[in-house]
Amino acid sequence: MEALDFLEKEQTFTLPERYSVLTEEEMKQRIREIKATFGDQLFMPGHHYQKDEVIEFADARGDSLKLAQICTEMEAARFIVFCGVHFMAETADMLTEDHQKVILPDMRAGCSMADMADLDQTEKGWAEMQGRFGDTILPLTYVNSTAAIKSFVGKHGGATVTSSNAKKMLEWAFTQKDRILFLPDQHLGRNTAFDLGISLDEMAVWDPIGRRFEYEGEDLQNVKVILWKGHCSVHEKFNIKHIENLRKKDPEMQILVHPECTYDVVQASDLDGSTSFIINTIEKAPAGSKWAIGTEMNLVNRLIKENPDKEIVSLNPFLCPCLTMNRIDLPHLLWSLEMLESGEVVNHIKVEEEVRKYAVLALNRMLERS
Ligand code: 13P
Ligand code: SF4
Repeated sequence: MEALDFLEKEQTFTLPERYSVLTEEEMKQRIREIKATFGDQLFMPGHHYQKDEVIEFADARGDSLKLAQICTEMEAARFIVFCGVHFMAETADMLTEDHQKVILPDMRAGCSMADMADLDQTEKGWAEMQGRFGDTILPLTYVNSTAAIKSFVGKHGGATVTSSNAKKMLEWAFTQKDRILFLPDQHLGRNTAFDLGISLDEMAVWDPIGRRFEYEGEDLQNVKVILWKGHCSVHEKFNIKHIENLRKKDPEMQILVHPECTYDVVQASDLDGSTSFIINTIEKAPAGSKWAIGTEMNLVNRLIKENPDKEIVSLNPFLCPCLTMNRIDLPHLLWSLEMLESGEVVNHIKVEEEVRKYAVLALNRMLERS
């Protein structure tokens, strides 16, 4: 049975040959036609990291928080074709009604960070943490996590966070319990906790593979924030050397990074925030200002193109793409739409009810406070 499930899934991964011979304009024309046919029955949200060729068709663009919020307001849409990654499509499914179907144009559009925390590891780690600290811990998870992890967190009284509300959510979490387990991005967790005045000595890293704490302080009992040992492989490609080089080359350059970057990078930069914060900061900046940006390449390139009056570069000169975000391309988008037009839903993202019911608790605790 499992092998059959896998084969069935595999079929949905395979893009029919004919999509490789269509020209870009042919694909765009067909997408426009299908969108016009479906009207408001079809809604296509797009994350800021999507390619230009895809984002131009998005009905709404946003960071993770905005995309989650907007999905709750799209009652008319029978189909939501999500231009983003798997955990975002899962969130959209959990926040929409049963009659609404969420589709991810390419099932390979995952997130390596979300894959760094699985349920088995989390349950085992949690048991060890409870043994050591007792019932003093509230779990929080970055939305960049699987529905199963969100569900675990919801079941234990915790909430999801995004890069734009992490500080507020951490403050709330400390009104509930003395300690926080922050999954799965150690960097966002560390950067946010530090902003709230928690010292590095009061944070420990939990290694889910070695099943042990990494802690250099004196007494583990002083720890207030337990950081899951996960990271974003895109944002880890920005380092302190990039900042030093830029500062030396052009002291007027302001450095603006995403908080998924390491603590050192965030501390050495001028500003940090979510993708929406980065976009707003650049849009509001005066003409002639100079910016080095530490985030995903599609967004940096778009900012360069859309702000010709400012000097904008990537903090890492070898721009960092998110390979999974890039899986959503015109051929996959058109294929999923043409299948829909023919009455077939491919790559349907459906979170099972048992998981959904607790994950929604975690999501709603965040949405109520955002
Ligand atoms: P935000 O758009 O919420 O800042 O998230 C960035 C990200 O890495 C999404 O995967
Ligand atoms: Fe995941 Fe990082 Fe890509 Fe965002 S940029 S989807 S966190 S791998």
